[in-house]
Amino acid sequence: MSGVAGGGDRELPGDGLTLLVAGGAGFIGSNFIRYIRGAQPGWRIVNVDALTYAGNLANLKDVAEDEAASGGARYRFVRADICDPVAIGAVFAEEKPDAVVNFAAETHVDRSIDDPGLFLKTNILGTQVMLDAARRAGVARYLQISTDEVYGSLGAEGRFSENSPLKPNSPYAASKTSADLLVRAYFKTYGLPTLTTRCSNNYGPYQFPEKLIPFFVTLLHEGQQVPVYGDGMNVRDWIHVDDHSRAVEAVLLRGKPGETYNVGGGNERTNIEITKLLISLMGRDESAMKYVQDRPGHDRRYAIDDTKIRTELGVVPQVPFDEGLRETVRWYLENEAWWRSVKSGEYLSFFDRWYTGKGR
Ligand code: NAD
Ligand code: DAU
Repeated sequence: MSGVAGGGDRELPGDGLTLLVAGGAGFIGSNFIRYIRGAQPGWRIVNVDALTYAGNLANLKDVAEDEAASGGARYRFVRADICDPVAIGAVFAEEKPDAVVNFAAETHVDRSIDDPGLFLKTNILGTQVMLDAARRAGVARYLQISTDEVYGSLGAEGRFSENSPLKPNSPYAASKTSADLLVRAYFKTYGLPTLTTRCSNNYGPYQFPEKLIPFFVTLLHEGQQVPVYGDGMNVRDWIHVDDHSRAVEAVLLRGKPGETYNVGGGNERTNIEITKLLISLMGRDESAMKYVQDRPGHDRRYAIDDTKIRTELGVVPQVPFDEGLRETVRWYLENEAWWRSVKSGEYLSFFDRWYTGKGR
């Protein structure tokens, strides 16, 4: 691969690129690291993650094993909090990344309703720490992983474009919106070559079982009822996590600094449709579903207009929804030990067991 022009003074190198991935032990970050190791074998990945409740090194067990077997030059994990400027500064000084992708965040809307402060700290102040470190290091690219939730909620018609007004409705969405504005400010003020992606709802393997699809699959498997919020008619636009990873790679390599790119799956489904599909795939009947009190401020509909990333970068989602959902359900059924250890909290000891030896 040849060098790629950066927005600042520096070019992205072709082979030998060092990519710092923040939040790589979570759902999307771990899938992205696995994807990019295959797609860009010449890259070195430094995964920086605080290992909050959502960070799980078991998500990358195969990567760590493959790395150990092949000499250990292409992947490194560093436990660090993006809110800690000293720790993050040290990682940048030691690893000298060419580019940064920031997935690290508090991500669950319901948790943000219970504890907004944590979301403001991680998602806003943590992003500021990352931006400052990236600026000092003079990276060639800084990519912020944002969300369609910054645009708020749609009625029955229309889709979100990159020019839609920012109207976040939950503390989570407000914190992600604030981070997006900081990213914009660092591009305008300091010329940091920033990029932002705003993606719709992801599904796939290794998603924490608090989010709709893995939560419902695991409850249905356990013979329990699934709680549908409100009337179940809220709409989400679902995208397979591998399609999100391909979009992130394209934006990193070919996106224009200062720009934002929407990423969507083109698969709008009501929550009731998703619930019924899961019930059928799991061999249960509709008595497995119960309506519960609605989420406060619950956004009614998200739908993405991804014309910009399609036309400018040639990115088109590849995974058909029905096939992707079937494979995802199969993955959770075949990896019961993974989600059981998450639900029991056992996974929280993986860091000690694998990295410090304390928990052995
Ligand atoms: P996740 O909750 O599964 O993972 C988040 C990761 O960030 C975890 O590994 C966690 O340990 C880490 N983290 C949290 N706080 C940290 C801190 N202070 N320092 C370092 N690491 C920290 O989240 P996800 O679903 O994989 O989402 C990843 C990113 O993608 C987030 O920025 C989210 O806003 C965005 N996003 C998610 C979706 C989705 O459907 N899941 C859709 C669009 C955008
Ligand atoms: O749109 C992108 C966003 O998608 C990301 O930015 C967030 O990080 C991610 O968590 C996700 O947010 P949602 O709120 O859309 O996802 P969640 O899985 O929590 O809920 C999906 C829909 O299902 C939503 O309308 C609420 C509903 N729901 C969810 C749960 C957990 C239920 O009806 N019952 C439930 O138990």
